[in-house]
Amino acid sequence: MGQRLGANLQWVIVTEPTISPAPGHPAAHAPDGTPPPGVAYPKTIKSFVRRAGRTTTGQAKAFEDLGPRFVLPYTAAPLDAAAAFGRNAPLVLEIGFGMGEATAHIAKMRPDDNFLCCEVHEPGVGALLKRIGEQGLTNIRILQHDAVEVIDHMLAPACLDGIHIFFPDPWHKKKHNKRRLIQAPLVAKLAARLKPGGYLHCATDWQPYAEQMLQVLGAEPLLANTAEGFAPQPEYRPLTKFENRGLRLGHGVWDVVFVRRN
Ligand SMILES: C[S@@+](CC[C@H](N)C(=O)[O-])C[C@H]1O[C@@H](n2cnc3c(N)ncnc32)[C@H](O)[C@@H]1O
Repeated sequence: MGQRLGANLQWVIVTEPTISPAPGHPAAHAPDGTPPPGVAYPKTIKSFVRRAGRTTTGQAKAFEDLGPRFVLPYTAAPLDAAAAFGRNAPLVLEIGFGMGEATAHIAKMRPDDNFLCCEVHEPGVGALLKRIGEQGLTNIRILQHDAVEVIDHMLAPACLDGIHIFFPDPWHKKKHNKRRLIQAPLVAKLAARLKPGGYLHCATDWQPYAEQMLQVLGAEPLLANTAEGFAPQPEYRPLTKFENRGLRLGHGVWDVVFVRRN
């Protein structure tokens, strides 16, 4: 059984069988996510729709005051993280932070890590900037851009110490499942951008997606599960308002934590 070994994010890798794809199996793709011959993956995942949403006055003010320091421009060129954060520190990518409640909590409890956070929803970016201002956080940088493009164009191989994907859009309907983020090609790209020993932590409250996460991550040759199946909730991930409401309604929540093999 995989174990958290405390706040320094050491994981024991579970060595019993993870499903390894046989040559020719759809999961036996190249490390950059290129599908094997004869297998068609969507060229890119459209994992979000641009939602309408009002940016509040407080969020707009946070944009004006803090945007220039904390929002990075998207450029199709490798990110110089040390320059962007003004220091060298372990780098964690978060995909889809929503209103940034968990992001701010984690950044506060892990001041020695840098958090590169992607979100396309403008009010969410404003909300996280507001939290950054209120809580005096300095270890977050935001990219208001499609994370898939950020991964493709801004992140070099083995540059990440961790990846957080909390409650990604579940795309419940079967015909929309192809819009889910956690699919073999993207997971292969994420794994390639982790340093050996770096972790990928996903959480969801939608059981079919939780099972897909376990299956897809388990089939990625570069990754090893830290648990037998689903992981205990790591202590850094807080119970957000959204999750608490779900738990009160009797919904389950599943954490999946894998690490990159050496
Ligand atoms: C269901 S919400 C969850 C938000 C947050 N992680 C939480 O736990 O409350 C998923 C978020 O992911 C964002 N998102 C989806 N695909 C994205 C992508 N490719 N790049 C950046 N953000 C994305 C959406 O805009 C949305 O805010």
